[in-house]
Formats: sequence, structure tokens, C-alpha cells
Amino acid sequence: MSGRFPEEFLFGSASAAYQVEGAYKEDGKGDSIWDNWVRMEGKTYKGTNGDVATDHYHRFREDVRLMKEMGLKAYRFSVSWTRILPEGRGRIEKKGLDFYHQLIDELLEHGIEPVLTIYHWDLPQTLQDEYGGWESRRIIDDFTEYAKVLFEAFGKKVKYWIVLNEPNIFTQLGYLLALHPPGKKDMKLYLKTYHITALAHAHVIKAYKEGGYDGLIGSSIAYTPGYAASDEEADQEARRRYYDTVCWWIMDVFYKGEYPAWGYEEFKRRGIAPEVTEEDTAILKEGAALSDFIGINYYQSAMLAHNPIDGVGLTDFNVSGEKGDFRESGVPGLYRQVFNPNVEYTDWDWSIDPDGLRVALVEISERYEKPVFISENGIGAFDELDEDKVHDDYRIEYLRGHIRACHESMKEGVDLIGYCTWSFTDLLSWLNGYQKRYGFVYIDFKDEKLPRIKKDSFSFYEEVIRTRGENC
Ligand code: NOJ
Repeated sequence: MSGRFPEEFLFGSASAAYQVEGAYKEDGKGDSIWDNWVRMEGKTYKGTNGDVATDHYHRFREDVRLMKEMGLKAYRFSVSWTRILPEGRGRIEKKGLDFYHQLIDELLEHGIEPVLTIYHWDLPQTLQDEYGGWESRRIIDDFTEYAKVLFEAFGKKVKYWIVLNEPNIFTQLGYLLALHPPGKKDMKLYLKTYHITALAHAHVIKAYKEGGYDGLIGSSIAYTPGYAASDEEADQEARRRYYDTVCWWIMDVFYKGEYPAWGYEEFKRRGIAPEVTEEDTAILKEGAALSDFIGINYYQSAMLAHNPIDGVGLTDFNVSGEKGDFRESGVPGLYRQVFNPNVEYTDWDWSIDPDGLRVALVEISERYEKPVFISENGIGAFDELDEDKVHDDYRIEYLRGHIRACHESMKEGVDLIGYCTWSFTDLLSWLNGYQKRYGFVYIDFKDEKLPRIKKDSFSFYEEVIRTRGENC
């Protein structure tokens, strides 16, 4: 790579409460929808759950020491809503606040910037039971109140805030594909819940700004840019439809305050468009204007072709058995997601396309004219422990390509403020248990002491940070 990243560039790594903390019943924590979902037969790989996870709740000091050793500039983590408000609203559990104060202080003492995610999928079970969680607009007030508790507690120490993590994925998996709680399959409901997440985002952004805090705030969307499978007009049209009903659909409502016109009309024609009132548009536009940055989680790109099937729902959706994860194959009449012969695929069939990250960054920055923050990027693999080593050269290759793509995009004018890998240590995969690993630090989950072992990629990223990417 020629040139270096700027001095203030945030090279970081990310995690989420449910995937690392464990201590699921400790210090007054209430149940989240995940605490219960994992207990239902057949919902996760061999019934794995986050009761203990990496035990980060008790071992965060050791984990932060490793981050310091690596030279990490930023650590992105999420707060568990039910540690703070065990019933979802009302009574505040001080021990929950204490835990995050300790974690944040530990990071700051080691010169690591905390990046706090307010919501990473672990909704209080009480709110799901009471009014269906994200299915009801009632969640907007509860979520905003919860966010305000966090602003008040941590607003002076935390300068980077992510309101929602991948709202497009948790609504899709929860309401369209039935793979996450509450396990429903209903496209109209998926579009409705997504709309409610956008409203919640906007209200929280507004509350942060009204509170006069001086940090930066935005939400992180899982973004998968798409190419047309051929020059044929039908495939080019499929790509346009994909953008209007997926890429721009999920992004515009958060960062422009309205849906793409063609996509909205199309969903309306199908009778599944979300209801958008005038007040919705006003607050959405305000939230969009006040968002300081766009968080992007990038893992892969998509290849789109014409979908000849007419109908409703999804076409040819398939869960890839043994390996766990899913691959969706399209929406009737809109597009079909097909195999891309030009790229390699991961153990979980996710396409490996570093240039897709550059493409995504450039198109997002041109469309929304805001700074961008890569809040997740990484490769899930079956890592092997070989004596005391993990030779994860495929991870080094993957990260190298994506870090270069970030630098390229900056040369093309993208205002990129940071890059977080997913993840720092190995952690719980929502559906795949502990077999799918992403970390720089291997955790031996078979050993109850949960030993932390540095992989080869640990030194690679250490060097990237030290040289600001110069030798990458
Ligand atoms: C995105 C999610 O934010 C994270 O929780 C998940 O583990 C990774 N992608 C990998 O699938």
C-alpha cells in the first residue's frame, strides 16, 4: 500500500454484549429475547448459548490488556439493555452501570477509544411480551429512555456512539427468515419493523443532540453492494431493483429520511409497504440530518440477475445445513442473488470481495455526503489450534485486502474515520455456536479456563496499527 492512514484514524475491533459477556443472570440482569431463544429446541447449533460466552464480564481487564498490547486505538462493544434496565424500562440497575463504567475506564486508561453500541439485538423479553418489541411503535419511547440513561451515565467519557447495530439484519432474521427471535416469516412485518427501527434511530439521535453532548453518533447498517451478473438489460434492471429495495431502501430512510420512490411504490403495489406518516417523515429527516456518521458493517458483495419468478415472499431460500449460515436467493420479480464466479467464498459461503468495500464506501459517501465508519469487517472460519498457535493466513489476507480498499476509498475522497474488525477475541456466533471464529485471539472453549491464545493475525494487525498501514 502506498501512503499511510491519518494519525487520528481509528483502527479498532468490535464485539457485542451477548456474544462475549456471559454472566447472564448476574448482578440483577433481566432476561433478553436471546436468553430465551437459545433455550428453544433446534434454534442454535447444538443448542449453544451465551450463558458464559467468553466470560468477558469477569475477564474484561485481561482482554483490554491484550488490546493494549496490540496497540488497538478503538474498541467497539455493546451495552446489554437488561443489565441497565432489567424490566426494559423504569428501574435502573446500578450494578449494570458499574460494569460498563469499569470497562470504559479501563479502556480509557489504556488509551483505547470506547465506541459504544446502544443496541446489538438483545431486546428485553418484557418488551417483546408486552407489545411485540419492534413490531410496535411503543418501543420508540422505551428505547429512547434507555438511550438517555446511557447518555447521562457515559456521555462525558464516550465520544463515539452507535445507536442500532444492523437493524436491517435483526429485522430480516427475526421477521422475514425466522432464524432469530421472535422467529416470524412475514415480509410486510419485516418492512414495518424496519421502519420502526429507523424512527427509533431518529428519536435517539435527536435526544443526544438535545442533551448537548459533544461526541459523534450514527447507526451501523449491514451493507452488501451488488453487481449485475451480465450486461443484459434484464440483469442490469435486477441490480437497479436490488438497490431500490435493499441497498438504498435500508440506507435512505436512516440517512435521507425517506424511502427510494420506485421501491416504495413497488412494495405498495404488493400491499406490503410500511405506513409512513407526515410526522414520520419530519423526524426521519431530522434524524438523518443530525447523524454525524454512517456506520457500515461490510462482509461481502452480491451478484444480481433477473428473477423470472412471479409471486410473494422469497425465492429459493436455503439454509446451508452443516455449516449453519444462510444464503438468500432473491425476491420474486425483483432480483435473484447468484454465485459470483470472480471471487472466492469463505467456509460459510460468504463472498470475499475487498474491492466491494471500496465500491460501497464510494457510493455511500457520494449519495449521503457524510463521514463513514466501518464498524465491522472480518472473516468467519474454522480456525485450527496447532500446538499453541493458530496460523490464520486467510484472515491476514482478507484483512489486508479490506484495509487496502479503505485506503483506496480515502484517496477517492471518502471521509473514513475508522475501521473495526469483527472481532477481537473469538466469540459466540448467534446461530453457529463457537465453530465460526473471527478473532485475533483464539479462545479454547473446550477448556473451562477459556484460555486466550494470540493468532498469527494478532501480530499482523499490531503492525498495521503501528505503521498506520504503511506495509500493508
Ligand atoms: C454482524 C453482527 O453485528 C455480529 O453480531 C455477527 O456476529 C457478525 N455480523 C458475523 O456474522
